[in-house]
Amino acid sequence: MKMFPAAMLAALVVALIPAARAQTSAAEAQVNALEKLFGKHEGFRRAQAKGLCASGYFVGNTVGRALSNASVFSGDKIPVIARFSVGGGNPKASDKSKSVRGMALQFTLPKGEQWLTANISAPMYFISKPQQFAPFMAARLPDPTTGKPDPVNLKLFSELNPETTLQGAYLAKAPVPASYGAVNYWSANAFEFIGAKGHSQFVRWQFVPQDGTLGLTDEQIKSLPNDFLADELRARVAKAPVVFDYKVQLAEASDVLTDPTQVWPDSRVVVPAGKLYIDKVEAANGGACDKITFNPLVLPKGIKPSADPVLLARAAAYGISLGRRLSEAAK
Ligand code: HEM
Repeated sequence: MKMFPAAMLAALVVALIPAARAQTSAAEAQVNALEKLFGKHEGFRRAQAKGLCASGYFVGNTVGRALSNASVFSGDKIPVIARFSVGGGNPKASDKSKSVRGMALQFTLPKGEQWLTANISAPMYFISKPQQFAPFMAARLPDPTTGKPDPVNLKLFSELNPETTLQGAYLAKAPVPASYGAVNYWSANAFEFIGAKGHSQFVRWQFVPQDGTLGLTDEQIKSLPNDFLADELRARVAKAPVVFDYKVQLAEASDVLTDPTQVWPDSRVVVPAGKLYIDKVEAANGGACDKITFNPLVLPKGIKPSADPVLLARAAAYGISLGRRLSEAAK
C-alpha cells in the first residue's frame, strides 16, 4: 500500500508515543521521589534546591583545542553564568551538611551555540542506573514513628545495590567544604571529545580551585551558622576572582563509560584544558541562573554525550523540575 508522507509521519508518531510516555513517566517518578523525600518547595529546584547565581568567563588552552573542536577552547574569553548549590531538595538545607556541593555552568559560545554542565563535589554519582533513582530516595524516607529512615529498608537497598553507597562513603570521609570556591567539582558522567579529523577521546572533567581546597574545622562546624556559603563566596570574589583549573581525565580502552559510580584509576592521564574565572556573585537571591536548567545534554559541536544511561536520563528530569518551579514562581 502506498503511504503519503503525512500518513507515514502520523504512523511514526503513534509508534513513538509509548516510548516517549515511558521516558516521561520515569523522569516524573524521579522528580516525585525527590519531592516526597525533601518536601515540595514551590519555585525551587527539586534537587540542589539551595544555591546562588554568579558569573564569569572561561579561557581554553592549546591542550583543550587539541582534544576537542569545541569553540569553548578557542582561547577567547567565553562568558559564563554559574550556579553554586548544596545537595538535596531542601532550600533551607544547612551549608554544613555532608552532601555534595554543585557548580553548574552555562557557556555562551559563538554562532548561537551553548554548553550547559552541572558538576558535583564528588568524583562519583550515587546511582549507576536511572532505575535506582526513585528507590534510592524511597529507601531514605523517614519512618513516621522514629523520624529516621527505616534501617532495615535502607540496609536491604544498599546490600542489593552496593555501588549506591560509594558516594556516601566518599562524602563521609571528605571535609565539609568551607567555600563554594575551595572545593573540586567533577562531571561524574563521561563525555566524548571530538578533535581534529574526527579523533575521539572519552573523558571526565573536573574543576580544581587554583588556590586549593579548604574544609571546615570541627570548631567551625560548631560555630558557623547554617547559611554561610553565599556570603563567603561574595566576600571571596570581592577580593579577587575565584579561579578553577579545568582538567580533563582521559579514559583508556578498559574504562567503564556508562557507570558514574565507578571512578577511573588515578593512573589515568589528567590534562589542564582551560581556566574558569568567577568574578561576580549576585548580591541577593535570584539572578540569571534561576531560569536555566543546566541540562548536561546541551553540548557544543566537539563534545558529545557518552552512552551513560544516568547522563541520558538527566534531561527529562531537569525539564520536569524546571516546568514545575517556573510555573509555581509565575503564580
Ligand atoms: C537520573 C539521574 C539524575 C536525576 C533524576 C537528577 C535530577 C535533578 C533535578 C530534578 C535537578 C533540578 C533541575 C532544575 O530544576 O533545573 C537536578 C539538578 C542538578 N543535578 Fe541532577 N539528576 C541526575 C543526575 C545527576 C548527576 C549524574 C549529576 C552529577 C554531576 C547531577 C548534578 C546536578 C547538579 C549540580 C544540579 C544543580 C544544577 C543547578 O544548579 O541548576 N545530577 N538534578
